[in-house]
Amino acid sequence: MSQATVSTRTVGSELFSSGAVQEAVDAIVGAVGEASSKLTAVRGPIDGLRESYEAYLKKITDLRGRATYYPYLGSGAGNGIFVELADGSVKIDMIGGIGYTPFGHAHPELIRAAVTASIEDNLKHGHLQSTAPLHEFADKLLSLAKRKSNLAHVFVSAGGALANENALKICYQKNAPASRVIAFSHCFMGRTVTMSQLGDSAANRVGIPLSTLVDYMPFYDHAAAAEVGQQAVIDSACDRLREYINRYPKQHACFVFELVQGEGGFVTAPREYFVALMEICKESGIAVWADEIQTFGRTTEMFAFEMLGIGEYLDVLTVGKSTQACATLHTAEYMHKPGLLSGTFTGATPEFAVGRRILEMLEDSDIYGSEGMAAKHHNAFREHVAALRAKHPDWFPDVPGFESVAGGVGGMMRFTPFGGEKDKITRATKTLFDEGLVSFYNGHGPFHIRFLPPLGVMKLEDWPAVFEIVERGLAKAAG
Ligand SMILES: Cc1ncc(COP(=O)(O)O)c(C=O)c1O
Repeated sequence: MSQATVSTRTVGSELFSSGAVQEAVDAIVGAVGEASSKLTAVRGPIDGLRESYEAYLKKITDLRGRATYYPYLGSGAGNGIFVELADGSVKIDMIGGIGYTPFGHAHPELIRAAVTASIEDNLKHGHLQSTAPLHEFADKLLSLAKRKSNLAHVFVSAGGALANENALKICYQKNAPASRVIAFSHCFMGRTVTMSQLGDSAANRVGIPLSTLVDYMPFYDHAAAAEVGQQAVIDSACDRLREYINRYPKQHACFVFELVQGEGGFVTAPREYFVALMEICKESGIAVWADEIQTFGRTTEMFAFEMLGIGEYLDVLTVGKSTQACATLHTAEYMHKPGLLSGTFTGATPEFAVGRRILEMLEDSDIYGSEGMAAKHHNAFREHVAALRAKHPDWFPDVPGFESVAGGVGGMMRFTPFGGEKDKITRATKTLFDEGLVSFYNGHGPFHIRFLPPLGVMKLEDWPAVFEIVERGLAKAAG
């Protein structure tokens, strides 16, 4: 073969940069944009679709053996904060599948990334054979995490609970034979056999044999701090932690920190609380692991550990949801031995392409900082709750143990009507849904209504429409 005929380009790179592919992708992105642009307001179902929709929902119920929480089947179309259901109704989506849509529905950049990645030779790739999008996603994620931490490596996995399983294995291996784990009361970590044992919810582990040794620490108690002062609450938590360490010397592999409690009710804690506990972990050789699967992208900095200024303490970090693909990051010291982590799949290539684009878009966005959109949306949210409470004080009695009927931070928003009674809160999520708003609940008593809005596309002007629906939904739930 003569030198002149040797190409330095692969067939793959020619394919992905070919004019025909670019044109086809442009055409698809354009068609999606044109269709999506019709979805600009909440509306009810299309009459002629009601029956077939009901029949499809029944099929889903029969397949699963139980009805889904909402009578929800997406049509596959959406536009920013709006999502269309298969019955033709359009709703405002304030929960995004519980937090995985930071740029809402059908964002053109993300459709472009997904479509382009989907023409690779296989939809899914694995740990043995992979293509560049996996590593570009991992590289982007790690470079963002590294800005304010000592995290040095990243291992990608297909779900949050799996990322947490990998984190726990890394901690166990490094600190072997330590076999205990410290976690916060009311934490949530996913639903594998081990994660349902670490998660502090009895209902989520009915019938699961308890084989994991967990010591629970109290999360920061704002009500107690208002009474006895922040330092007294910190001192008492440190005493509790030392008690566990003295009771089980060198037996704790890690302390897992949810930096804002998610399922537990969007409870925050001051930096000083985490620092005091993390210092003790450092002195005692206990891995500091932050589970940012729900917080990632949603606080007033991209990572909650950045918002709190505690990156230097982290040994292990898990992220998911907004990142699409999930991941376990760790320091060089916590490098694991061959064989500990693997699996057939890393995930589907479009997940990595979309995940990477989301990371870039979050980085370029105006979401973060004290004047960023996360903070602004949070303030707007609280103002609307306060106005609704002023109008309907009977819907919003004080909630014992909570400083306010609205709380959380940034794009993690909770409000607490009806004193946080479970039945009334779940009923309210359903009346809100009927009126055109998708939300969810959280907390373990009191219970709250929770929003995880798409901060990347929501506008401050959208809040009045959201709260008009909230008012109608709560009126129905109260009646
Ligand atoms: C803090 C936290 N950790 C872990 C998980 C589990 O993630 P996944 O549902 O992707 O398994 C969740 C999910 O809600 C979560 O909020």
